[in-house]
Amino acid sequence: MRTKIWIFGYGSLVWNPGFSFEQSQVGYIRGWARRFYQGSTDHRGIPGSPGRVATLVAEAQSVCWGVAYQVVGEPLASIFSYLDEREQGGFRRHQVDFYPRTEPADASAPSVTTAAVYIARDDNPHYLGPASVPEMARHIFHAKGPSGSNRDYLLRLAESLRGLGITDAHVSELERHVRQLDAHSKDGPSG
Ligand code: SIN
Repeated sequence: MRTKIWIFGYGSLVWNPGFSFEQSQVGYIRGWARRFYQGSTDHRGIPGSPGRVATLVAEAQSVCWGVAYQVVGEPLASIFSYLDEREQGGFRRHQVDFYPRTEPADASAPSVTTAAVYIARDDNPHYLGPASVPEMARHIFHAKGPSGSNRDYLLRLAESLRGLGITDAHVSELERHVRQLDAHSKDGPSG
C-alpha cells in the first residue's frame, strides 16, 4: 500500500515546505494559537542570541490556519527524517485533526483528516514564552541565523498568510511593529 500522509504547516512550512507533495490545502486546526514564543538558535538566531519563531500554544477557543501538504508513496522514515532534522531545535511531532477550507470535491472524501504537525512546547530548552509585542518585534528585527534574518521569517509568513486570505492578529501586530522599526532605521540618525 502506498503511504499517504498529511503534514500541517503554520510557520516556515507555509512558504517553504522543502519536500515534494502531491497536493496542498489551506485549512485550520482547532485548539491551538500561533505564537512567536519559540527561541531559534539553529535557523533565525544563534546560540546565545536566539531568534523568535512561531510555535503553537494550546488555547481551547482558538484555531490556527495554515497549509497542509499531502505526501504520497514515500517511506515515512524518509519523509520525517528531513523534517525532524529541520525542526530539531525544540519541536516535536504531534498528530492533529486538520479541517480543509474547502469541502473536498469528492463528497465521499473525509472533510477532516489527521495531519502531523511540529510543535515546540513550553518545556523545551529553547522556549522563550510571551513578551510584549514591541519587545518581541525588536527581538525579531535584530536576530539573524544560518537560515537568514528573523525579520524575513516574520515578513514572509505575514505575506504568505495574507496571500492565502488568512488573518492572524498576532502575526499582523508583530509585522506592523517590525515595519515601523524598518522605517525608523531607514530614516537614519537624526541631527
Ligand atoms: C511549521 O512551519 O509548521 C513549524 C514551525 C516552523 O518551521 O517555522
